[in-house]
Amino acid sequence: MAECVSTTVHVPFMPLGARSYDIHIGPDALDRLGAYLASDHAPKGLVGLVTDAHVAPLYADAVLDRVRAAGKACVVHTLPAGEESKRLDRVGEICGAFLEAGMDRAGLVVALGGGVTGDIAGFAASVFMRGVPFVQIPTTIVAQVDSSVGGKTGVNHPLGKNTIGAFHQPDGVFIDLAMLSTLPDRELRAGMAEVIKHGVIADADLFAYLEENAARILAKDLDALRVPVVRSCEIKAAVVAADEREQGLRANLNYGHTFGHAIETASGYARFLHGEAVALGMCAAGELGRLLGLVDAAFAERQRACCAAFGLPVRWPEMPLEETLAAMKHDKKARAGTLKFIVPAGMGMVVHRTDIPPELARAALETLL
Ligand SMILES: NC(=O)c1ccc[n+]([C@@H]2O[C@H](COP(=O)([O-])OP(=O)(O)OC[C@H]3O[C@@H](n4cnc5c(N)ncnc54)[C@H](O)[C@@H]3O)[C@@H](O)[C@H]2O)c1
Ligand SMILES: [Zn+2]
Repeated sequence: MAECVSTTVHVPFMPLGARSYDIHIGPDALDRLGAYLASDHAPKGLVGLVTDAHVAPLYADAVLDRVRAAGKACVVHTLPAGEESKRLDRVGEICGAFLEAGMDRAGLVVALGGGVTGDIAGFAASVFMRGVPFVQIPTTIVAQVDSSVGGKTGVNHPLGKNTIGAFHQPDGVFIDLAMLSTLPDRELRAGMAEVIKHGVIADADLFAYLEENAARILAKDLDALRVPVVRSCEIKAAVVAADEREQGLRANLNYGHTFGHAIETASGYARFLHGEAVALGMCAAGELGRLLGLVDAAFAERQRACCAAFGLPVRWPEMPLEETLAAMKHDKKARAGTLKFIVPAGMGMVVHRTDIPPELARAALETLL
């Protein structure tokens, strides 16, 4: 079904109004990119388009058409697809390609792809010539509902994921939901875990919408996908505008991620996509909420059923329990003897707890077995 509505979500960085920007969501997103490029707001220099090897053959030409129509020269840098590209030497390669093409301080970086492309291209933009503007054209659910909004950019180090990076807000985000039509189903499902997360932490109506429309969303019905993408952008925009540097509220977005990261570590980053580990993490966090008496068993079951409806894992019978617990204790969120978690307190509501005894976290994890 064709998508026919366009929406603009404003990201209002209140104390720093000059850095506010819009997220354009709709079938005319690339036309809006073209209008931006031709406007006085856009940098005057060379455009550096960063994309990956899967996305380039699908969508680079459509973007390049808009760049050329705006009268701009462009250099294209295509990364190998996948998380392995998110490393520091690739940032050097990107900057090298920009320099060879003659990009200077008046340049503009355009990130076309998933979260990997957005994170590395945004980071390259933050350091190239000590910082040039960039815009995002996110092409995965993860990128459209999560990584393209909020200004966190960076790469991985062999000693830790996302350990080298910078805050660099984009000048705009341009989301064409139709680009999701080519996304592998497993990537779509994994991305929906972050949307379910947004429902649990901030929006009971969004959660109910997901429960009712899982089949349409999984079938990539663009009308059905619009609601979760728009609402997620609104939720993430509100959270990051209130707390750009993760002093408090932004930590809510880590719901399901303390368990999730430990699960990713214990599984060697091979078995689960990030969103799949987050789904397991949310199931464990729901059980933790139940053990703490903050939510009832029906809440935990409802969350599990929603994850399952999106084809996400809700149990991991072979989980190495001790390794997973050990990974959690090493997580930066742990403090003096107790563990720090975001715990549900009802649908659309979470609380921060820093006083969770490891035995309780273990009991929550055991429910995944
Ligand atoms: N900056 C942030 O705030 C933030 C938030 C969440 C995640 N992230 C980062 O995002 C990354 C994960 O992002 P991701 O899940 O988008 O992964 P990804 O960028 O690797 O994309 C997943 C796969 O889908 C392919 N692909 C992308 N768009 C496609 C399309 N439209 N059609 C067909 N194939 C397509 C890619 O080539 C890749 O193979 C991680 O590195 C994570 O750390 C960052
Ligand atoms: Zn996540």
